[in-house]
Amino acid sequence: KTIEPLVTTPYPTWEKLKEQALSCQRCQLCYNTQKTVFGEGNTQAPLMLVGEQPGDQEDIEGRPFVGPAGKVLTQAIKHAGFERENIYLTNAVKHFKFKQIPNRRLHVTPNDEEIHACSLWLEAEKALIQPKVVLMLGGSAAKALLKRPVSVLKERSNPFTLSPEIIGLITVHPSYLLRMEDNKDRKREAYFKFVEDIKQAYQLAV
Ligand code: URA
Repeated sequence: KTIEPLVTTPYPTWEKLKEQALSCQRCQLCYNTQKTVFGEGNTQAPLMLVGEQPGDQEDIEGRPFVGPAGKVLTQAIKHAGFERENIYLTNAVKHFKFKQIPNRRLHVTPNDEEIHACSLWLEAEKALIQPKVVLMLGGSAAKALLKRPVSVLKERSNPFTLSPEIIGLITVHPSYLLRMEDNKDRKREAYFKFVEDIKQAYQLAV
């Protein structure tokens, strides 16, 4: 399937952008999913958080970060001292990529082509929201914005210039914390390091 060139750019408003994104067919992922999961939150926010892609629950509800990883993120945002309603939350890819197994849809990491196809929406969100800081949660988000593979554990926690007006910061994806082996102390330490990254992003933004 060929990727259609962008018809309307720049989008006049965030609402218009969302409306267009909801019927996106720029890659194959739209054909097997229930919903397009667009970004949500405060469209005037100085901080934008970018995840990878919706999960099973997000695909059902049509909202980002409402499943297990989203709950960890929402709690971490609270621990960092603010609320998710204060910021703008989105994903690099707006459709759930999965492998169907009996009784379950298993997350599959989006490939470069899917990330590239969907970066049109992400870049337009960034242009409309004009955040001061973009916090990338995990490798797919970082790859989508930096256009190169990123080693999250090497590059996390160090603010950098994403564009002349925007500070970039990379941290782990909350699902990394969920997947960690069952060592309570290490999990707790990793969780609070994640909270520190969110706090740093927020402090740079406000
Ligand atoms: N993981 C993500 O990266 N985004 C979501 O919206 C949910 C889970």
